[in-house]
Amino acid sequence: MELSIFSFFAICLLLGEVVVAGRARASDDSFDENYYVTWGNNHVLSLNQGREIQLSMDSSSGSGFGSKLSYGSGLFHMRTKLPDKDSAGLTSHTSNHDELDFEFLGNREGKPYTLQTNVFSNGQGNREQRLHLWFDPTADFHTYQILWNQHQIVFYVDNIPIRVFKNNTNIGVSYPTQPMQIEASLWDGDSWATDGGQTKTNWSHAPFKAHFQGFNIDGCPAQDSSNIQQCYSSKFWWNGDKYWTLDSTQQKAYENVKNKYMNYDYCSDRPRYPNPPPECLL
Ligand SMILES: *[C@@H]1O[C@H](CO)[C@@H](O)[C@H](O)[C@H]1NC(C)=O
Ligand SMILES: *[C@@H]1O[C@H](CO)[C@@H](O)[C@H](O)[C@H]1NC(C)=O
Repeated sequence: MELSIFSFFAICLLLGEVVVAGRARASDDSFDENYYVTWGNNHVLSLNQGREIQLSMDSSSGSGFGSKLSYGSGLFHMRTKLPDKDSAGLTSHTSNHDELDFEFLGNREGKPYTLQTNVFSNGQGNREQRLHLWFDPTADFHTYQILWNQHQIVFYVDNIPIRVFKNNTNIGVSYPTQPMQIEASLWDGDSWATDGGQTKTNWSHAPFKAHFQGFNIDGCPAQDSSNIQQCYSSKFWWNGDKYWTLDSTQQKAYENVKNKYMNYDYCSDRPRYPNPPPECLL
């Protein structure tokens, strides 16, 4: 039997609570209007007049970018194409804030990518769900979205809902209340890695390159928790009642994803949660 060759990195698209001083917004959707490079400057390449960004990672550094502003509600999106080398990885965020994550886990050659999502609210995470993607995310750009309003958080892949986290504060489940920033990063996750970190990054495959597009932001900017209330206004279309629940078509698509592609759900992990968290019982 042959050993698969692995390279480990992590990409994450997340909303994390980081307060960043704001600048005037423009309608233009180039990277510079809404985003800035957060780290690994010399591993970031701007393409097509800033309409596309390439993040790369080699043994010296990974790279990342984030939104200039923080947001209190919105329907956030990013078009992303993953590195085409066989690769793996996992991000880790152990901070005490609200966070919504898309994370891409390892890709053993010939096997589908795994997409992991997580929801942190008030510092509490450990709500992983994982699914196999039904397409090759390295072959083309795909759209990853997060809806966040007072009623629900929905993760979408190419407009298909793959995860719903409802506002269940009425039964004591915390729900994000702090402005969040959009971030994307590509970094070495080999200590976490697929298969529990057994295999290390093979740097002879470097540099690993991920591409991003879609830098306009449909979100309500908010500086801190004290002025997030204005982000719940019905004047923002993503707060409209159409976005309070999935419609029947979306619900069907969501059920289909759960049945066919989901391979891990913290809600049904009994060894880990003998008593499932309250949101899992609904
Ligand atoms: C959760 O829902 C309740 C009841 O609708 C609402 O009052 C509250 O503001 C919501 N919480 C958040 C953080 O959006
Ligand atoms: C790393 O990849 C190269 C090129 O594919 C291969 O020749 C080499 O054996 C790999 N190294 C390890 C430790 O797997």
